[in-house]
Amino acid sequence: MKQIETNIDVQSEQYRFNITEYQPVLDEYKSRLQSVFNRENEPSVQKHTSRGKFPARKRIELLVDPGTAFLELSALAANEQYNNNFPAAGIITGIGIVQGKKVMIVANDATVKGGTYVHETIKKHIRAQEIAMQNHLPCVYLVDSGGIYLPEQANVFADRFNFGRIFNNQAQMSAKGIPQISIVFGSCTAGGAYIPAMSDETIIVRGQGTIFIGGPPLVKAATGEDVTAEELGGAHVHTSVSGVADHLAENEVDAIRKCRAIFETIPASKAQIVDRKEPKPPIYPANELYGIAPVDLKKQVDPKEIIARIVDESRFNEFKANYGTTIVSGFAHVDGFPVGIIANNGFLTTEAAQKAAHFIELCNFRKIPLVFLQNITGFIVGKKYEHEGIARAGAKMIHAVATASVPKITLVAGGSYGAGNYAMSGRAFDPNFLFMWPNTKIGVMGGEQAAGVLSSIGNKTNREQLEKQFETESSVYYSTSRLWDDGVIDPADTRKVLALAIETSLNRKIEEPKTGIYRM
Ligand code: COA
Repeated sequence: MKQIETNIDVQSEQYRFNITEYQPVLDEYKSRLQSVFNRENEPSVQKHTSRGKFPARKRIELLVDPGTAFLELSALAANEQYNNNFPAAGIITGIGIVQGKKVMIVANDATVKGGTYVHETIKKHIRAQEIAMQNHLPCVYLVDSGGIYLPEQANVFADRFNFGRIFNNQAQMSAKGIPQISIVFGSCTAGGAYIPAMSDETIIVRGQGTIFIGGPPLVKAATGEDVTAEELGGAHVHTSVSGVADHLAENEVDAIRKCRAIFETIPASKAQIVDRKEPKPPIYPANELYGIAPVDLKKQVDPKEIIARIVDESRFNEFKANYGTTIVSGFAHVDGFPVGIIANNGFLTTEAAQKAAHFIELCNFRKIPLVFLQNITGFIVGKKYEHEGIARAGAKMIHAVATASVPKITLVAGGSYGAGNYAMSGRAFDPNFLFMWPNTKIGVMGGEQAAGVLSSIGNKTNREQLEKQFETESSVYYSTSRLWDDGVIDPADTRKVLALAIETSLNRKIEEPKTGIYRM
């Protein structure tokens, strides 16, 4: 494989300007993360720890194998919504290693409104289950939740992908042979009671954990019966009277130890065997990506400059290098794992879309996971292109992306606009993971273009207001707050995150391709 030669001069004025321009973008990202991670002085956290309870992230740290990485997802979910009262949407999800096995961990954060669920909390919980299903990962639920956040009940209760979906998923996952274990560290009320009740095995902490369909106040109101939480559904009741839980833990550490012991008997997943090479770092430093990532999305970035700072030894075997050049495609390794990369290098054209579709078929047959590097304003427009059938070429690419049997990992590195988002494995195409850089934007089109379209069809919408609306709604933080992605990542961490995502996506066998290779 040929080594990519960079054209970036790190001494140049342009590069230095780019670095300066990126700094505030990175600072904003880090400060938003800080507000989620550093909450130890908040009264609800102090109340929690003063009760001798561990914070949710500490529980995760104790659960996973020491020294192993935890891939946290969507840390900025619900950011800037609900007056910022739901950091991380009150739930921590991510992939860790327990007894050498990859596991999806879903942990309620009881310091966020009693661990209750708003719309984004549910979306995040369900997304974690979907990832577990797609990648055949056992699940551990670290339960400590008051159930539905009652003032939001109309947005969380009755619809198809609302609270009930969590329990439907549990049953579906179980039927697919995906193990699920619960540790009840605190409350588990109403519908929430089904999380431990539907798990394969459940551990409950003495004096802390409670499980009940209706809590004491509801029982009193409904039947007049006076009962304490402990008598109604405490750890002793559920491990020796009702049988709803299986293991009585003396404290949180004991509960985590018991969970780890359970994982000794959970069989490892039948992973896809790939030809993994010895991992070798790229020859160019990752932090140079700060001088390459586009802040002004109108400026085109050569995707090979990004690829060179992500893949092993910066080696890239390009496919159809001189054809349909607005797509760059080729083979490389990330942390030793073989990958096929499809990256934007301008508008999608007929040739570029056909080349991408052809390349996806190659990856399908070779069982090589796909990485989509998005920086796309959309498909090329105009009479010439419509006449040559750009829609037909785009349809081929979209078909190939949608039905690819190999894992797909999408990284949005610049703009993600219009049908380009779809063709490049946007959220609707079920990539195994989708991450975004802090400088990115996502939307149907830019605000300026939308205002132009509306005024040309006679719409009287206030132009300035519309542009502002588009600006806000296409922000990466607007996206990640609403779980349109699996998280915003620091460009310098891209290789590490991609490697974890690829390894996770190979946790199950890749299906055989459904079609032959059609040369486009
Ligand atoms: N809906 C809305 N808000 C809730 C809530 C719920 N279901 N459960 C807790 N909260 C809020 C509290 O009002 C409080 O808000 P504040 O910080 O603005 O004052 C915050 O969450 C923490 O609750 P608090 O009771 O002070 O904490 P706690 O740790 O002592 O107890 C619970 C936590 C979950 C055990 C307890 O709040 C509770 O039993 N909640 C009701 C659970 C329930 O009946 N749910 C049924 C809905 S499915």
